Amino acid sequence: MWELRSEQAADTAAVEALVTATFGPGRLAKTAYRLREGVDPVPELSFVAVSTADKQLIGSVRFWPVSVGGKPSLLLGPLAVRPDLRGQGIGIALMQFALETARTLPFETVILVGDEPYYAKVGFARLPPGRLRFPGPVDPSRVLGLSLVPGALLTLSGQVLRAPLNHPVAAPSAAIG
Ligand SMILES: CC(C)(COP(=O)(O)OP(=O)(O)OC[C@H]1O[C@@H](n2cnc3c(N)ncnc32)[C@H](O)[C@@H]1OP(=O)(O)O)[C@@H](O)C(=O)NCCC(=O)NCCS
Repeated sequence: MWELRSEQAADTAAVEALVTATFGPGRLAKTAYRLREGVDPVPELSFVAVSTADKQLIGSVRFWPVSVGGKPSLLLGPLAVRPDLRGQGIGIALMQFALETARTLPFETVILVGDEPYYAKVGFARLPPGRLRFPGPVDPSRVLGLSLVPGALLTLSGQVLRAPLNHPVAAPSAAIG
């Protein structure tokens, strides 16, 4: 049995331990991490899964604010679930919970670099190659997007940039990038 809740300050060490154990130190060299360096995740969209019995952290999802072609967007990830508890719906539940919340925030799109067959389960679709330009190499077949408001993805294109340091979520329409 497990439950979802918002990530709290006291969870930070456990979340980071899970992410490091899942992706290893090599993750820091990935293009997606360049978009996260020095920027805080969006606090409203950081959720954890905990075991109901002992409250241990068993899963985590975070989103980062980014700019795509000059428009605010969200970068999903990292998403991680403890290896011994995978395949129980925790990853999907974490994303669905966070995406429902994202629809209440002033963002219109979410992007990520990941496995299309998995993320399609929550509505992500592959973007046409070349539509987004990243600040480093990415596999074009793994560039995915989701509209938080109908049709928003259709016009999303251009350079993906890191948000300014500690970009406030309350004002995503401010110039970023
Ligand atoms: C990916 C991850 C978060 C999935 O979490 P999870 O709690 O096991 O996933 P869920 O139980 O919600 O979903 C399981 C379903 O997704 C499928 N799935 C899991 N990973 C998949 C993948 N990479 N590609 C395609 N399908 C995948 C499973 O086969 C299962 O399908 P089913 O419901 O039809 O049987 C977890 O495996 C993990 O932490 N992996 C290592 C980190 C990682 O790869 N993160 C994503 C970065 S792209």
